Amino acid sequence: MQSRNKTQPPYFIQTFIFMLATLLTFPVYAVKVTLDPANWGLAQGKSCISCHQKSSAGLTHQWQQSAHAQAKVNCFDCHQADAGDADAFEHEGEVIATIVSPKDCGRCHQTETQEATASTHNKALLHLEQKFPKLAQKNDGQGLKQAGCTDCHGTRVTVKADGTIAPDSWPNTGIGRINPDGSIGSCSACHGRHSFSKAQARDPQACAWCHSGSESPDTESYASSKHGMLYQSHRADMNLDSEQWVTGKDYAAAPTCVTCHMSAAPGIKSSHDVGMRSAWELSTPISEKQSLVIFADGDRREVAESEPAPKRGAALAKVDGSMAKVKAVASPKRRRQIMSKVCIECHSKGFTQGFMRNFDNFVKHYNEKYAKPAAAIMQDLYAQGKLTPEKLDEPLEQHYWQLWHDDGIRARHGAAMASPTQAWTEGMHRVAKRFNGDWTTQLKALVGEQEALRLLQKYTGETDAAKDAIEDAIGAETAENTQNTGK
Ligand code: HEC
Ligand code: HEC
Ligand code: HEC
Ligand code: HEC
Ligand code: HEC
Ligand code: HEC
Ligand code: HEC
Ligand code: HEC
Repeated sequence: MQSRNKTQPPYFIQTFIFMLATLLTFPVYAVKVTLDPANWGLAQGKSCISCHQKSSAGLTHQWQQSAHAQAKVNCFDCHQADAGDADAFEHEGEVIATIVSPKDCGRCHQTETQEATASTHNKALLHLEQKFPKLAQKNDGQGLKQAGCTDCHGTRVTVKADGTIAPDSWPNTGIGRINPDGSIGSCSACHGRHSFSKAQARDPQACAWCHSGSESPDTESYASSKHGMLYQSHRADMNLDSEQWVTGKDYAAAPTCVTCHMSAAPGIKSSHDVGMRSAWELSTPISEKQSLVIFADGDRREVAESEPAPKRGAALAKVDGSMAKVKAVASPKRRRQIMSKVCIECHSKGFTQGFMRNFDNFVKHYNEKYAKPAAAIMQDLYAQGKLTPEKLDEPLEQHYWQLWHDDGIRARHGAAMASPTQAWTEGMHRVAKRFNGDWTTQLKALVGEQEALRLLQKYTGETDAAKDAIEDAIGAETAENTQNTGK
């Protein structure tokens, strides 16, 4: 060991000078980047830019305006590939891939990639393949695409023998896309390329191209809520470009989708796991509250409250079917607490609790009054052989679908996002009208008037189901009563 040269300044000053030099040489990024800056800004990227400036000027311009260009992250840093990668091809002397998957982004953005990968978003295609195996396999695996599910849910991207992507599987940036490298998801579902801006992703429009329409009518719900109204009026005060975006601190004019489902509030971190704060499953025929199971490897899945609660340390099947150890379980109550923490930045505790109570009661009302009786009657008819096992081939089944899916989802999402229009006039009123109208008419046509009334009485416990439905149909008064009494 060398003895210290007495003419040198003491250690702490040396350390200070070293730290200062480091700070001056290495840029400090607002976004946490895991890769050492020495490993990007690769020289091969220069030729991509000069050529693509001509061949695709718009795309290159988007990149030039981005935080990536400012930080010297170029085309090749993202599009580089190993010759052995399934979708690698040679392009102007370099080996590249067109798809930049979450695995590629994850070299620099580990945390966001891990959270997105663990989230329910990334299970969007897996869920469909499991729930609709026949449809998924139909027409050489093209069934889901032809049914119109994959633009939002994602495709399995396949690669032809020559390394090019099969055109029937891409372009696609669906949220649960399965990539040639095995990774799942598509970061440019929300972060439009090639600007990859977080300000753009914070805007409610980032979610609109999937979360609108009868599958998930959130854009409509938000737009017709007070929150959406205020966002429109005060967009300039939303500070969308801010490095940090903490509710109540960096902005207060209105919450966006991202405020409630993803970003930070005092005491809660921002997360790319969008489903974390939701207690209910609002898109099934009958709603149930769900626990969130967190596995040892970070992956997640939901377990309905009616199923046995998974225990810490026990083995449980993941969504992809493999077994893994349970690390922690977030109960619906815990998930609700986290969501409520966002609200109390702008509302009182009492207001927030009152809202949540009304919302829960709305879902229970939908469940008990319409969803459970309708589901039980359908079940009874299948058991009696009065309906064929084939789904959606009979008028009664089509009205049942519209009852819980088109009308029922709209009502429940509308109530969750505080939109009276979607919750009531476009939601619960239509549920009531369909239950007592078209659906009952079809039921009578199928089994006869008397049997229909017997079934209705057996499962609703009411002799005249229409009576209460009128209360829902006249609407405003019922809605108000429900709000005031919390029933
Ligand atoms: C080679 C490293 C690297 C790769 C690969 C990379 N990024 Fe980045 N990313 C960065 C750096 C550096 C920044 C800028 C950090 C800053 O300015 O604070 C950044 C910033 C961002 C931002 C914030 C932009 C803003 O508006 O402030 C987003 C969003 C982002 N990246 C998404 C992605 C996505 C999605 C991918 C994959 C398609 C990706 N990045 C791939 C290094 C990388
Ligand atoms: C000499 C000009 C030139 C250079 C250099 C060049 N490209 Fe291209 N690139 C093109 C042209 C032309 C196309 C085809 C555009 C089209 O199909 O419209 C293309 C297509 C692409 C595609 C899309 C392929 C697909 O599957 O659709 C990607 C990704 C791409 N280039 C990335 C890069 C990257 C990364 C680099 C740097 C390593 C690079 N390019 C260098 C001209 C060039
Ligand atoms: C931050 C990472 C990143 C950088 C930097 C980047 N790309 Fe991309 N690029 C992507 C992603 C992500 C996609 C979407 C592919 C997919 O997932 O379907 C893409 C798609 C493309 C495509 C095909 C899709 C289309 O819209 O036509 C071309 C061509 C392309 N990039 C060229 C370039 C060029 C040229 C540059 C540099 C000027 C560049 N990229 C810089 C991430 C990046
Ligand atoms: C490319 C399509 C797409 C985009 C963009 C998208 N989502 Fe989703 N989202 C989905 C799909 C599909 C599901 C259903 C996933 C599943 O559970 O199988 C989903 C599920 C969800 C859920 C429900 C989670 C649960 O617990 O069931 C929430 C909350 C959500 N998304 C919020 C958002 C927000 C907020 C944005 C915008 C920042 C967004 N999503 C952008 C397609 C998308
Ligand atoms: C416009 C985009 C879009 C299209 C197209 C779409 N979905 Fe969805 N889907 C969503 C969103 C967003 C959700 C999330 C709703 C939620 O979790 O509350 C969802 C949720 C679901 C769910 C419940 C969650 C799950 O994954 O288990 C099922 C099942 C489903 N979709 C099936 C389908 C099928 C089948 C098709 C094609 C016939 C389809 N979807 C087409 C956007 C879409
Ligand atoms: C559901 C939409 C959605 C998807 C999908 C998505 N992001 Fe984001 N991302 C956002 C939003 C919204 C923000 C801003 C969050 C905030 O400010 O709290 C963000 C912010 C970021 C940031 C900036 C983080 C910071 O510290 O400021 C990075 C980096 C990033 N995303 C990378 C990714 C990568 C990598 C992927 C794919 C693995 C991805 N994102 C997929 C919506 C999304
Ligand atoms: C003021 C906060 C808030 C805003 C803004 C908001 N949401 Fe929600 N969202 C909620 C609450 C609360 C729930 C119900 C949570 C539960 O189940 O306990 C919910 C439920 C959902 C669900 C259903 C989740 C499930 O489990 O089925 C989706 C999908 C969703 N929101 C997407 C969005 C999108 C997209 C936007 C923007 C267009 C948005 N939300 C705006 C608070 C908000
Ligand atoms: C960033 C601030 C902010 C956050 C976070 C926020 N809100 Fe709001 N909210 C507002 C503002 C502002 C209004 C409009 C108040 C007014 O003028 O009536 C509002 C109005 C409402 C209303 C309409 C009822 C009324 O007339 O006041 C409901 C319901 C509501 N919020 C529920 C919630 C819930 C539930 C959450 C959390 C999931 C939440 N809000 C989160 C700012 C916020």
